[in-house]
Amino acid sequence: MSLAATCPAVGSFYLSRSPRGTPRFKMAVRSGALSVAPILTNLQKDCATPLPVLRHVADAMEADMLAGLAVDGGSDLKMILSYVDSLPSGNEKGLFYALDLGGTNFRVLRVQLGGKEERVIATEFEQVSIPQDLMFGTSEKLFDFIASGLAEFALKEGGKFHLPPGRLREIGFTFSFPVKQTSIDSGILIKWTKGFAVSGTAGRDVVACLNEAMKRQGVNMRVSALVNDAVGTLAGARYWDNDIMVAVILGTGTNACYVERLDAIPKLQGQISSNGKTIINTEWGAFSTGLPLTVYDREMDDASINPGEQIFEKTISGMYLGEIVRRVLLKMAKDGDLFGSSFPEKLATPFVLSTPDICAMQQDNSSDLQAVGSILYDVAGVEANLRARKIVVEVCDTIVKRGGRLAGAGIVGILQKMEEDSKGLIFGKRTVVAMDGGLYENYPQYRGYLQDAVTELLGSDISKNVVIEHSKDGSGIGAALLAAANSKYEHDF
Ligand code: BGC
Repeated sequence: MSLAATCPAVGSFYLSRSPRGTPRFKMAVRSGALSVAPILTNLQKDCATPLPVLRHVADAMEADMLAGLAVDGGSDLKMILSYVDSLPSGNEKGLFYALDLGGTNFRVLRVQLGGKEERVIATEFEQVSIPQDLMFGTSEKLFDFIASGLAEFALKEGGKFHLPPGRLREIGFTFSFPVKQTSIDSGILIKWTKGFAVSGTAGRDVVACLNEAMKRQGVNMRVSALVNDAVGTLAGARYWDNDIMVAVILGTGTNACYVERLDAIPKLQGQISSNGKTIINTEWGAFSTGLPLTVYDREMDDASINPGEQIFEKTISGMYLGEIVRRVLLKMAKDGDLFGSSFPEKLATPFVLSTPDICAMQQDNSSDLQAVGSILYDVAGVEANLRARKIVVEVCDTIVKRGGRLAGAGIVGILQKMEEDSKGLIFGKRTVVAMDGGLYENYPQYRGYLQDAVTELLGSDISKNVVIEHSKDGSGIGAALLAAANSKYEHDF
């Protein structure tokens, strides 16, 4: 069976990297290798997430949220105001665009909204992967790429999509990096994450960057909402279900947002919205308290382009899980006898093992773990025997279990905080957590571990009312809905 046939579709939740090409069979031969058993035992011990550890993480998440709401810079969690104070009602009408920049792909989307009766009349989208050099290039180059993609897409508009005469096309811009919002349609990039290192954007208003690029590319459109992907997911999911209170992204990176009462945000000092609520973007990827970390995590962090930052993200998200596993396997191959007396040098290349690879290995139910063998051969150029394949699967499971369970503890931390503020708001009724991102969508074991942790922490009674639900591509539609809500034109909804 070919490798392609054995790998599930795993989506785009990893950092794309140089093609693997044909496996190289460069092996160093060593003698005196030790058994890998103690390495595995230590890893499992260091990654363990029994209930007390989960509880500690959930409580720390709650405490960090409170500290971040009290004052800017009060904790690792930035608790950013989204300036979204009215969520979609279903009455939105008209043609709106969404732009989505946040991971390995860039997406453009248009939607024709038909109000309560017709809802979403039509949608169309296009997706392109972001060339690696743009992730490390200049701000102008990246935003020009986005603006020209948007221009091409807008030219193909037709069919069910109609713009009333005399109006500009309006865009919801989903920009999935930490941004200090200054209004619903402006915000300053705090820093890049997820392997992006574009020069000239941090400290600037990203909507201004996009506007300038649109001008250069001759695009006459208006950004009416700047939205984080978690916020877009919450808005998009809420369009269909009023019980959505929290949204979580688990993809290349990770984040969560939730509906907060304005009077529970001390740092706001008197700003008010019409209904007294807003969405807070937690930027929980930066959380770091009480996490069970290993030497492999620390080494990966040290070698990263943002050492000491985004520690929760580096422990639970799609960009990093495969890389952590690679580091463990490298240790087992170097110091132990994982692959007998040979040491596959290819395994020493950072990010050569991706999260979709470890996901595919974990789906292998064959008795000889054939797919595991093929992937190891392809990635590391190594012929692994059955014993080695089994160990590799155990390592993947250990890292994925820790990631999924910690993500679950994070969710419980948010729910706890909301319940603490308004008794009965969360635990007394059906509450929905909208989930999106390729890691959550495509990794069944990860999803299972996350749900287990939520159930363990909340107990079976309360957790029956807490629905953790995949909200596919909600963030694109959500951004378009927020563009509709913030349209500069008079709306008839
Ligand atoms: C970013 C967030 C984003 C998340 C998921 C993180 O790296 O800081 O803003 O929501 O990734 O895309």
